Amino acid sequence: MSLGGKHIVSINDLSNGEIELILDVADEFQDQLSFRNSSGPALNHIMAMMFFEPSTRTYLSFASAMNRLGGDVIGMPDAAHQSSVAKGESIADTARVVESYSDLFVMRHPLDGSTRVASEYLTKIPFISGGDGAHEHPTQTLLDLYTIRREKGTIKGQTVAIFGDLLHSRTIHSLAYGLVRLGGDIVCVAPPGLGLPPYVRESLQDLGWAPKEFETLEEAVKGDLVLYQAEGANGKPRRKDQAQVKQQALIEVILKQFDAMYFTRLQAERFEDEQQLAATKEAYTINRAILNKAGEETLIMHPLPRRSELAYEFDRDKRAAYFRQAGYGVPVRMALVSLLLGLVESSTSAIDSKPVERRTAQGTAGVECENIRCVTRQELYVTPRFWQVPGNTRLLGCYYCDQEMIKPIRQNAPPDAEIVDGAQAKN
Ligand code: NCD
Repeated sequence: MSLGGKHIVSINDLSNGEIELILDVADEFQDQLSFRNSSGPALNHIMAMMFFEPSTRTYLSFASAMNRLGGDVIGMPDAAHQSSVAKGESIADTARVVESYSDLFVMRHPLDGSTRVASEYLTKIPFISGGDGAHEHPTQTLLDLYTIRREKGTIKGQTVAIFGDLLHSRTIHSLAYGLVRLGGDIVCVAPPGLGLPPYVRESLQDLGWAPKEFETLEEAVKGDLVLYQAEGANGKPRRKDQAQVKQQALIEVILKQFDAMYFTRLQAERFEDEQQLAATKEAYTINRAILNKAGEETLIMHPLPRRSELAYEFDRDKRAAYFRQAGYGVPVRMALVSLLLGLVESSTSAIDSKPVERRTAQGTAGVECENIRCVTRQELYVTPRFWQVPGNTRLLGCYYCDQEMIKPIRQNAPPDAEIVDGAQAKN
């Protein structure tokens, strides 16, 4: 199986087999991290990095990965101010120029769908998204999945509870897809108004996820979260009788059922309404005691940076995996870079090499995406394209940012005119 030349904009651009392959190759690199490989496989290759949003881990671990592979890095960590974009240059022109200076382009940008646009203007080199707005962060997901697989032995069958601002956290969207696709399960706990965006929830349901979404752990107790006793009479897990156990005890039972707990910060920079942000800050306190009640083997994960949602006192606990998780960014990105550049061949046979199908989308005169962070609202040469949301003829999904909106009524059109062709042919 070869990944050479592929663009990675969404975790769904990779098949399950390709994800497993990247994690396998990362395992090999993890054991060879101690030296800088000046005669490594990426010698004579240049990786360009343009980051239009702040970054510590993603920028530096990509750079570290390329250096360890023996390649060179050119880039701008503050491209919003350093590059010609500050003079009004477009993403499209930036991508076309970067292509003639490098062999691989990594970009982070605050607009949802911006990385898809950049990838569309490359004809010769592969592209990797370092995160686009509130949309997706596929390489963070690769290292998150790697952390779970390395530390728990498997992804299949693992239950991961995700806490925090699930609406605006791009890491969560990509991680949820990846986990469910590889046979894991997720339980969501988010303050009011900060749950999963509808398009993410629906895509997860299409992948077979039964929604488990709560505003607090207390609510999870009242809800339908099934509780099991570790050992039943026949050695199999047995369902607990919820009525017999007090709420606090139930919370502990629930916490012990999580194989990993994944926290995210409030993504303050993505709030459209200052008042909502202020109100949410009040509600955004995660009870520190719950960390101590987590199961002995539960991994505590966080993409970082953290604010107040994770207590420093917990850092020395062996379950605190977040700094190890950040460290795994190097071998995982070494694996991804070397595979996309065609520098390593793998004997791993694909479990399944079919990526998740992207729906057909069509340009639609006069209709614009309602998401104000969508790239199509700023880069006006990009034609907005939409797909028909399956099962709901009134909803359109944006090809670039995935957000859904009610189909506008076209002026002077017959009342039942279709704005978008709902054909399911592949792109
Ligand atoms: C995340 C990001 O940039 O989305 N950070 C990261 O890449 N490790 C998470 C965040 O900023 O909260």
